[in-house]
Amino acid sequence: MTLGSVTSREVWPVAYPRGEVRPADFRLVDVPVPEPGTGEVLVRNTWTSVDAALRLRLRETAPPGYFPAFPLGRPLDGVMTVGEVVASHADGFAAGDTVWHAAGWRDYAVVAAGQPALGGVGTLRRLDVRAAPAQAYLGALGANGLTAYAGLLHVAGLRDGDVVWVSAAAGAVGSLVAQIAKLRGHRVIGSAGSAAKVRYLLDEVGVDAAFDYRAGPLPDLLAEAAPDGVDVYFDNVGGDHLRAAIGALRPHGRVAICGMISEYAAERSAPGPDNLMLAVTKSLTIRGFRASAMAHLIPEMTREVGAWIRAGRLRYRETVVDGLERAPAALAGLLRGDNTGKTLVRITR
Ligand SMILES: NC(=O)c1ccc[n+]([C@@H]2O[C@H](COP(=O)([O-])OP(=O)(O)OC[C@H]3O[C@@H](n4cnc5c(N)ncnc54)[C@H](OP(=O)(O)O)[C@@H]3O)[C@@H](O)[C@H]2O)c1
Repeated sequence: MTLGSVTSREVWPVAYPRGEVRPADFRLVDVPVPEPGTGEVLVRNTWTSVDAALRLRLRETAPPGYFPAFPLGRPLDGVMTVGEVVASHADGFAAGDTVWHAAGWRDYAVVAAGQPALGGVGTLRRLDVRAAPAQAYLGALGANGLTAYAGLLHVAGLRDGDVVWVSAAAGAVGSLVAQIAKLRGHRVIGSAGSAAKVRYLLDEVGVDAAFDYRAGPLPDLLAEAAPDGVDVYFDNVGGDHLRAAIGALRPHGRVAICGMISEYAAERSAPGPDNLMLAVTKSLTIRGFRASAMAHLIPEMTREVGAWIRAGRLRYRETVVDGLERAPAALAGLLRGDNTGKTLVRITR
């Protein structure tokens, strides 16, 4: 197989961001299209994912226990991507298949079939594009769907009658958490960073109450939205949001710590919540988790979330940025809160 004079563009980090992510921290590099060997496929990537958690790996050292830091001057290994197989030397894959894998932010990737990536969540997998468009497998039917589904149902252990608060609720993970909780019959409160996002939460996501966390003191905003407190807090933000949740949780309340985006750009972590003693007095459970450790739930999640999407009961928004070269700007935008729903880069040439 030869692609003649075609080259592949790759986005490489060349400096670790200090504070905000800047496009100058990355370089677009032309490389020859790689040749697949035995057991490998060559994929032409069509959509690539932009995730908050990439920021955790764009630093000299990633947090202990997490995936390692991205090396500088190399393509990013460990970013979810979908594309089309253009050549296959691997059993079970053929040219024309639509697949996901974790070698994103580049035009072409050689991927070894069966080689675990991102804890199994990013291992090369053929996708059913009759059921949903390919890019949905980067969002609601992919790692974001898994994170929302596993975090809410398996980590927070959603129970009948629970009142749920979701932060960053207008984002990729949060908007799915809020909808899954609603579909399970719960009262749901969503928070986000603008009046437009609050409208989106009320009108499209369908939460019962929503607030803009910038509009006043967080404990007051939360108390107004949930006067009787909450039972489950799905934390995407950390910091003052986690503190407010601990204050508002009812006895035996549960927190699923999914992420702490408010801290990702900080050089040093802020001190933890100063009201943690309430975890004792109210018998709270506070549990962090990583969806990458729950890849075994992908079939269950795909079945259930897929059925809700097909029935028109779960909807998702996408913030699409055109052009591989704009992936760093898309990440910077996500971290600033420019996005609603899933942030995607459409790879065009
Ligand atoms: N545990 C896991 O396995 C796992 C997997 C995937 C993602 N995550 C986590 O899930 C969370 C959401 O990730 P995502 O990729 O779906 O991103 P996203 O929610 O689509 O985008 C991030 C959102 O965070 C909000 N935000 C940014 N800075 C903030 C701050 N200082 N305070 C409050 N909100 C802030 C912004 O919305 P506003 O306009 O509302 O501020 C922004 O749109 C992140 O914490 C991420 O690390 C965890």
